[in-house]
Amino acid sequence: MSLSTYSSSNVSYDGPIKIQLGQSWFTAVRSQSGVVELKNLNIAFRNLSCAANQMTDKFKLPARYGAGEKSVWVEYIQLAAEYKPAVNLGQGFPDYHAPQHVTKALGEIATSENPLLNQYTRGFGHPSLIQNLSKVYSPLVGREINPQNEILVTYGAYEALYSAILGHVEQGDEVIVIEPFFDCYDFMIKSACGIPRFIALNPKKTSGTVTSADWVLDEKELESLFNPKTKMIIVNTPHNPLGKVFTRQELEMIANLCKKHNVLCLSDEVYEWMAYEPVEHIRIATLPGMWERTITVGSAGKTFSVTGWKTGWAYGPAALMLNLQVVHQNCVYTCCTPIQEAIARSFDYELARRDSPDCYFKSLARELLPKRDFLVKTLRENGFNPTIPEAGYFIVADWTKLENKIDLSSESDKYKDYKFTKKFAKETGVLTIPPTAFYSEGHKHLGENFARFCFIKKDENLNLAGKLMKEWNAKNQ
Ligand SMILES: Cc1ncc(COP(=O)(O)O)c(C=O)c1O
Repeated sequence: MSLSTYSSSNVSYDGPIKIQLGQSWFTAVRSQSGVVELKNLNIAFRNLSCAANQMTDKFKLPARYGAGEKSVWVEYIQLAAEYKPAVNLGQGFPDYHAPQHVTKALGEIATSENPLLNQYTRGFGHPSLIQNLSKVYSPLVGREINPQNEILVTYGAYEALYSAILGHVEQGDEVIVIEPFFDCYDFMIKSACGIPRFIALNPKKTSGTVTSADWVLDEKELESLFNPKTKMIIVNTPHNPLGKVFTRQELEMIANLCKKHNVLCLSDEVYEWMAYEPVEHIRIATLPGMWERTITVGSAGKTFSVTGWKTGWAYGPAALMLNLQVVHQNCVYTCCTPIQEAIARSFDYELARRDSPDCYFKSLARELLPKRDFLVKTLRENGFNPTIPEAGYFIVADWTKLENKIDLSSESDKYKDYKFTKKFAKETGVLTIPPTAFYSEGHKHLGENFARFCFIKKDENLNLAGKLMKEWNAKNQ
């Protein structure tokens, strides 16, 4: 819109001045007292707001992205910046160093004699990294994975999910999503103009000792969601936020439905190295007839405790991977070279000690187990009922026994878990995440009684969280 003014030639300096706002003109007249009056202002503003509306309509967020709500991560990172909680058990990342060989590799690469390690690399994955991914996963899936066309390196597991969903889902296609779910699945499906169909894991019991194995799918309900429009099911095992590791039987049930209805499986396995013995992580791609229809996703951030490196990958049959490549090459095209090289070298290091208990793929879960047990005990002592996770580094805990100790009326959020986690953070200094963020609108009530705690944190911070909760409990007897 242009705003222009001129004085008509036959008026004096004090005479009317015409002003154009948008499509219309109006007149400014200086009164005797020297005050400038604006005539036709209503018309001008009406036209102006009309023009502004036209602009907002034209430049609004495309409908496929919904209303553009903030994700729980954006909101809670902001909350952490505002309230500066003493302990942040919210977002899932370690607050301590990654293995030394991993960070050392990156340092060496940045200053290496080879200038090309700081330049663009192969778009679908840096050569040394795809080679090593093939070495890591081929024995695990029981087939030789072709590094050239069966692996794609992505900007975090996030982009692997994005490329898999955008590369396969067409307008009107249905995608089955198991709740609670990593929140971006829903958004990515909708941005591909697909339709998410949700099914919740429900706990078989809610009191006494509850483990993530107690959270199960109803087979009949799952079966009823499969229909000719179903393109894909997303399975997240080990699961965020519950820590559930799907059993062979559960995966077989899903696999049989995929085969019966000719459906793809997108298997998000970013917590693959964090299953607590004796529980074993099973890759659904290894079940009979599933390699052909499965895209498996992994993350260097989770594998080597470097979430800020935001590098991930997908692997699967070449015909499916081609579709991911198209999305990837037109979105990010290629990922950061020095980081890919550092991950490749980190894999070299771990592959050399693969059979040793020191291998990080084994030691990580051992390192996390006492942290899990400590937090489970602490939560129980402080009135929560935690679901004991079989894998990963999150605990979902029922807080409803604390309801009479905390006044949530000051919090204006729609869902009780948002109110609870915000008030709890303000009163105790311990920040957690509201799990309704991992449910569809119609099923949010299923997550309202819980809060998600992350335990890949320094022991001193877990101890501090325990102390703060204990003090809060004592004050609110
Ligand atoms: C289940 C799940 N999938 C994918 C991701 C994304 O991983 P990345 O950080 O590698 O993008 C996360 C991160 O928290 C996750 O929990």
